[in-house]
Amino acid sequence: MDRRKFLFNSGLAISAGAWSGCNPKESESGHSIVHEEPALFETWDDVRKQFLLTNDKIHMSQMLLASHPKPVRDAINKHRKALDENPVAYWEGNFLAMDNKVRQAASVYMGCDPSEIALTDSTTMGLSMLYSGLRLTKEDEILTTTHDHYVTEKGLEFACAKTGATLRRVSLYTDPAKATADEMTSILKKGITNRTRIVAITYVHSSTGVKAPINQIAAMIKDVNLGRKNRIYLCVDGVHGFGIEDITMQNMECDFFSAGTHKWIFGPRGTGVLYAKKDAWNMIEPIVPSFEYNTYNAWLDLFPSDKLTFADRCSPGGFHSFEHRWALIEAFDFQLKIGKAKVQERSHTLSAQLKDGLTSISHVRLITPIDKRISAGINCFEIQGMTPEEVVKKLLLKHIIASVSPYKSSYVRLTPSIVNKEEEVLTCIKELEQLKG
Ligand SMILES: Cc1ncc(COP(=O)(O)O)c(C=O)c1O
Repeated sequence: MDRRKFLFNSGLAISAGAWSGCNPKESESGHSIVHEEPALFETWDDVRKQFLLTNDKIHMSQMLLASHPKPVRDAINKHRKALDENPVAYWEGNFLAMDNKVRQAASVYMGCDPSEIALTDSTTMGLSMLYSGLRLTKEDEILTTTHDHYVTEKGLEFACAKTGATLRRVSLYTDPAKATADEMTSILKKGITNRTRIVAITYVHSSTGVKAPINQIAAMIKDVNLGRKNRIYLCVDGVHGFGIEDITMQNMECDFFSAGTHKWIFGPRGTGVLYAKKDAWNMIEPIVPSFEYNTYNAWLDLFPSDKLTFADRCSPGGFHSFEHRWALIEAFDFQLKIGKAKVQERSHTLSAQLKDGLTSISHVRLITPIDKRISAGINCFEIQGMTPEEVVKKLLLKHIIASVSPYKSSYVRLTPSIVNKEEEVLTCIKELEQLKG
């Protein structure tokens, strides 16, 4: 069994077992698992010890930019040293195999084919390539929402300026705390017109913490597509669900999915993925020349252009920070070694504990839904009589790192993740109890 498969299977087995000692001797089927290497960690404390995060702070904003766990740091250092010692030889000897290995690792984690993944530097880069690359005309309409991040708004604005397509926006909810999956899906459905070709949405809203029901929306669009000549494509900014929700591209059922891997995946800074379902490849044109081996060879007439995959055509070229890109393998391995289901359960448990505490404080108004089916790891709230900036500053004085959601209506955010502990969540709740405007 190859190593990645071993890790994946091991992750699944782990997720089925108790987390007190995450090194099960038996799989669900009862077959013993022979570990090829000692488990890195057995408890959440062990997971935390993989990070150099300082213990004098409560780090509740890893959703913005994550710290690297040890295997990722070690891999970066290994590649950096070799690149510094002999940049050209190390790059020439490795770029082909390593980019493929990164895509392979990503595909195992994402549950898709490696040819469906373009390696990017961020969510922003993936969304920009996607939206500016869409084959649209002035007859077409893009349906989006009022809850998306700046990069989706700008990316769609650029796409419309380039193609003449028009934009339509709907609000999926007025009170985020009361949002429901059915209501969000039905509002989007009502927003679809005969001209709609693209539905461009965000999985977990960093403005409110609401999680959109992507597969329910995908099923609705599939249904609408049945009677249409030109089908609708579903494009998702998935970054705040990626590395927290136990999802695959198969069960998300969207056509395009962009995510940075330097947030919830705890991958190297400046890395990301753009997924494109095989039957959606025709909808997108590359906008940055690819340096992929086959694509370059196609330019040299050494490879048939019609055999190029999405990964070949749409992975943006130029030289990259290879020590970071190649260490993404270890980041996906790290996630799978813990197990996707365990990561999801842990993240939701800490968020539930936090939300439970917040709702018991009279001067706090929780913005994010309690229901874990429509929320993930972003918890937004406000405090009576204080601006979000004031709250974040006061929390920092108490050694808690929170963030302000950078939107027109902004809130305070606390985003616990696999690096946090229950005691840290409790401290946040206690400090918020003391904070009054
Ligand atoms: C919803 C959303 N999309 C995209 C981004 C930008 O992500 P990246 O830094 O990977 O480009 C952010 C920033 O955190 C975000 O909240």
